Amino acid sequence: MIPRTLFLAAALLAAVPATPASDDGPLVIAHRGASGYLPEHTMESKVMAYMMGADYIEQDVVLSRDGHAVVLHDIYLDAVTDVARRFPGRAREDGRYYVIDFDLDELRTLSAHERVRPQTGQARYPNRFPAERALFRIHTLDQELALIRALDTGFDRDTGIHVELKDPAWHRQAGMDIADVVLDVLDSHGYRRPGARVFIQSFDDLVLEQLGSGAGAGLPLVQLIADERWWPGTAVDYARMRTPAGLAEIANYADGVGVWLGHALATPGDDGKTGVTTLVDDARAAGLAVHVYTLRRDALPAGIDSFEALLELVYGRLGVDGAFTDFPDLARQYLDRR
Ligand code: G3P
Ligand code: CA
Repeated sequence: MIPRTLFLAAALLAAVPATPASDDGPLVIAHRGASGYLPEHTMESKVMAYMMGADYIEQDVVLSRDGHAVVLHDIYLDAVTDVARRFPGRAREDGRYYVIDFDLDELRTLSAHERVRPQTGQARYPNRFPAERALFRIHTLDQELALIRALDTGFDRDTGIHVELKDPAWHRQAGMDIADVVLDVLDSHGYRRPGARVFIQSFDDLVLEQLGSGAGAGLPLVQLIADERWWPGTAVDYARMRTPAGLAEIANYADGVGVWLGHALATPGDDGKTGVTTLVDDARAAGLAVHVYTLRRDALPAGIDSFEALLELVYGRLGVDGAFTDFPDLARQYLDRR
């Protein structure tokens, strides 16, 4: 087996990192790290994103049973770790393994791998890092922020972080306040100063409203807008959020919106070409920054035949303030060429 530290070392040895944008340029936001190349939310993936010149690096956060902020996308463990093999019998009745049922010390023993579909074990993106190579580890938000700070010190940079509070309502039902925990970690790393390069994002409007008017006042907040078809019965009115009136309401508590690519782009017409909707313009008219998610070279929207064309549509025609991408190197190179 290849020692896992080899990946981190190889990433660190990669000569000089690509240069991030100036503060006023459109942002390259590394979605779960350089997740097109290395398993999402691993330290190795974050180092690679850093070296590729990402302006901001994303951290999805969930809580462990003992209350630690862990960098993982799902409230479940089974799509990206070997939990079923390591802890047989710890699944709930629905067959899923929940992060919140494990202490951090247990989570640290798991091996992490490329995302698979838990039902089949098949890789979510088949041409990415081999899913059977579980060479990686789970880490905390505290560890990741320390990593970024250390790299910034070495390279004299100020890389941003884009922290998503995953499912605050779920955590609240379990008696935990994920916003409080994350704010404590941000405090301990000095992100509560004016001008700090940090965004807090969530699909949950209530947690952002509470943050903005309370403990998180002054932190840039980004309301993620979902498609209601993803979560039937959701209490959040995402359809209204996409209207000018809804965007005006968001502007009362947030600084920006995270817009799904499927809502920013129009369905291809008879000519087969993809157009754009008014959503990005409407959001900007409401005074909101717009960060679009997610640009993937290996999952292009209908009617778009190359990643370059997608980058041009999103950064060029739509003129977004930032884009989440699994391929931060390609976005960086595109923006550098402009
Ligand atoms: O947070 C922006 C984007 O990451 C939202 O989608 O599901 O990848 O967290 P998701
Ligand atoms: Ca996210």
